[in-house]
Amino acid sequence: MNLIKTRILIIGCNGLLGQALVNYYSKRKDVELHLASIEDSFVGNNQFTYSKVDISKRSDVKNVILDFFPDYIINAAAYTDVDGCEVNRELAWNINVNGVKYLIEGCRIVDAQLIHMSTDFIFDGQNGPYHEDSKPNPISYYGRTKFASENEIKIGGIPYLIIRTNVLYGVLKGIKKDFVEWVVENLTAGKEINVVTDQWNNPTYVEDLVNGISLAIDKKKTGIYNIGGLEYLSRYDFAMKIAEIFRLNKNLINQTTTDRLNQKAKRPLRGGLIILKAQAELGYKPHTIEENLIDIKKKLGK
Ligand SMILES: NC(=O)c1ccc[n+]([C@@H]2O[C@H](COP(=O)([O-])OP(=O)(O)OC[C@H]3O[C@@H](n4cnc5c(N)ncnc54)[C@H](OP(=O)(O)O)[C@@H]3O)[C@@H](O)[C@H]2O)c1
Repeated sequence: MNLIKTRILIIGCNGLLGQALVNYYSKRKDVELHLASIEDSFVGNNQFTYSKVDISKRSDVKNVILDFFPDYIINAAAYTDVDGCEVNRELAWNINVNGVKYLIEGCRIVDAQLIHMSTDFIFDGQNGPYHEDSKPNPISYYGRTKFASENEIKIGGIPYLIIRTNVLYGVLKGIKKDFVEWVVENLTAGKEINVVTDQWNNPTYVEDLVNGISLAIDKKKTGIYNIGGLEYLSRYDFAMKIAEIFRLNKNLINQTTTDRLNQKAKRPLRGGLIILKAQAELGYKPHTIEENLIDIKKKLGK
């Protein structure tokens, strides 16, 4: 008997989340995948069909959707450089908001569900962690674009899932260094690092996030879900845990505060996401930071 496969289009397949999604869905026999991103090819092996797509170009988006006719589109593409968005505002809006509008148009034509990634940066960080129905109030341009994209989706007339996450970490090919790798590389080289004590989140292991997304899709959920890590802690405490698991010198980690970093974009300080809804409705079970760091250590061969 021929299995009717679910057709999933992953956009932004070369990013941290995109690659982790490809790793997971390529093992699912009930899924037919098509990959797309702005680069010339997929960074992984070439067993997949791939289209070069710039989501800020309506015709690129329309073509890939009409060619593949997906049941689900997972949008892992975005302009994620928070300080870059603060300066390159037009580009940020074109990718993070207009790109999502084009995906919505495509979903309408082929009747696909859009799975879109959002962030705790849509909140001001006055009193996190936040529920799914907490009131957004972005304080950075990146946060404004992500909040605007959520609003486009909510009024778009399509079935959707908005998955909010925060401080993603994980090891994958050719992506910009995540926080864990940055800490490990510097401490291994004996270099001191300054880490903020006043930014609080529940960092999310990319494999836990993929698990949460797949549960939501399999359970045919719609609406907004927070998918984050188990522990709520400051970035400094996260760095100290990394040093502990990788057996590196904690004395090289200096405490600092966000205002001393002089970053272009403001950061929400008490950020993070309450994950009770995902735990209760999806059966989402993230691992502890310690378990995840041990997994990363193995993958890095350290
Ligand atoms: N990372 C986090 O801590 C975090 C936290 C909360 C929410 N999120 C959200 O989660 C999602 C995935 O994040 P991530 O960390 O995996 O991001 P990422 O590693 O930066 O990956 C994003 C991918 O999208 C690609 N891209 C950029 N502009 C594009 C365009 N116009 N058309 C097509 N592709 C384009 C990027 O290519 P280039 O690299 O070549 O530009 C990159 O491969 C994003 O929506 C982000 O806002 C991330």
